Amino acid sequence: EVVDASGKYILPGAIDAHVHFRDPGYTHKETWETGTASAAMGGVTTVFEMPNTNPPTGTVEALNLKLKSAEQAYVDFGIYGLLGEENLTELEALIEGGVAGFKCFMGNTFGNLPSPPTGAILEGFEIVAKHGYRIALHAENASIMARRSKKLKEAGRCDPLAHLDARPPVVATEAVSRAAILAEWTGARIHILHVSSGDELRPLREAKARGVDITAETCPHYLLLDERAYTEKKSLIRVNPPVREKTHQDQLWAAVQDGTIDMIATDHAPHSHEEKHKDDIWTTDCGFTGVQTQMPLMLTQVGAGRLALTDYVRMTSLAPAKAFGLYPRKGALLPGSDADLVVIDMERETQVDSAKLKSKGSSTPFHGHAAKGAPVHTLVRGRFVMRDGALVTEAKGHGRNVRRIQQMPTPKPRNVETTTAAIVKKNRR
Ligand code: DOR
Ligand code: ZN
Ligand code: ZN
Repeated sequence: EVVDASGKYILPGAIDAHVHFRDPGYTHKETWETGTASAAMGGVTTVFEMPNTNPPTGTVEALNLKLKSAEQAYVDFGIYGLLGEENLTELEALIEGGVAGFKCFMGNTFGNLPSPPTGAILEGFEIVAKHGYRIALHAENASIMARRSKKLKEAGRCDPLAHLDARPPVVATEAVSRAAILAEWTGARIHILHVSSGDELRPLREAKARGVDITAETCPHYLLLDERAYTEKKSLIRVNPPVREKTHQDQLWAAVQDGTIDMIATDHAPHSHEEKHKDDIWTTDCGFTGVQTQMPLMLTQVGAGRLALTDYVRMTSLAPAKAFGLYPRKGALLPGSDADLVVIDMERETQVDSAKLKSKGSSTPFHGHAAKGAPVHTLVRGRFVMRDGALVTEAKGHGRNVRRIQQMPTPKPRNVETTTAAIVKKNRR
């Protein structure tokens, strides 16, 4: 199959380390078919999908249900297993069953999964550390948020900005610091999801300097929207963690430039039109679609000179491949080398339009935003999944689990012998 790519760039396809495809359990919001179709249209060739489905992906049974749904996928995928308090005994079976990493919700969000207490997180880290898989963290402190939300509600606040007030940066910073300390102690590899504030950068930089195997992502909405957008976007902008003041956005851009933030992921979190358009911010579902809008939005920034194209590729393809051990060729970490490719046209001008997104829950605060630069063809392992801007519907089911090619570096668990029980035993000898 031949296409004319003259005047265009051929890049490795984007690897989105953070999407929610809702299937099983919330298929009115998204399915594997619609979510991965949207990814294909967005130049994304691999996604890592989150466990806050119903049932949550915390048991092998639930994982198998999800793997069944994922048979519809247009693009390749990794599945995150849930790391929670109730399923510590399931973690090794989940690895055996085919997860590509774990997700731990330190603070509650959509799906209302209980946040594990720190003790359970430590134990979970110890178990996963032995196998080398990366643990992604929704790093927000549940207790701070609960107290603040309660007070705001009592004061009668239900405007969009109440959401921002309920989750000040300390909510995330405390959790990032705690996660980094637990990772350092156990030797677990971790990934900080959706960095939204300048404050989180300090514990992140410190952990990296101490040699913790920690990676971090931010998302287009934290780089491109700020607090001033709440008036216009209203409930549409509600996302966890929240879009913050401009000063945070500036610090995030600086961290993108200096490499503190490794990746750009989307936190693709679709909800139905009704669920996203409510007068009461507390009943509006958090998050929005993203897998199809990331590339046009971020390429616009590349075109404007805010980000080098090579850095964009590093953040959307090389860094996630490295963090999750995707080796398409034996021993060679070369994203795109198995022909996972996207052809982009940097001159193509478009406008984000909810109605044109393949995602089911297509409401987005970026609706109406102008973009210059767009993916025109997407290939997954040599096969077109989008061609000339159109979805190749026959490619449904072409997606494969990345576990096929995944090779995490040798695990380096620490301190397993220095837990309290081991110390007591030693002292008694
Ligand atoms: O806004 C969010 N929505 N943040 C999350 O962490 C979860 C996500 C969802 O699943 O809807
Ligand atoms: Zn999250
Ligand atoms: Zn998320």
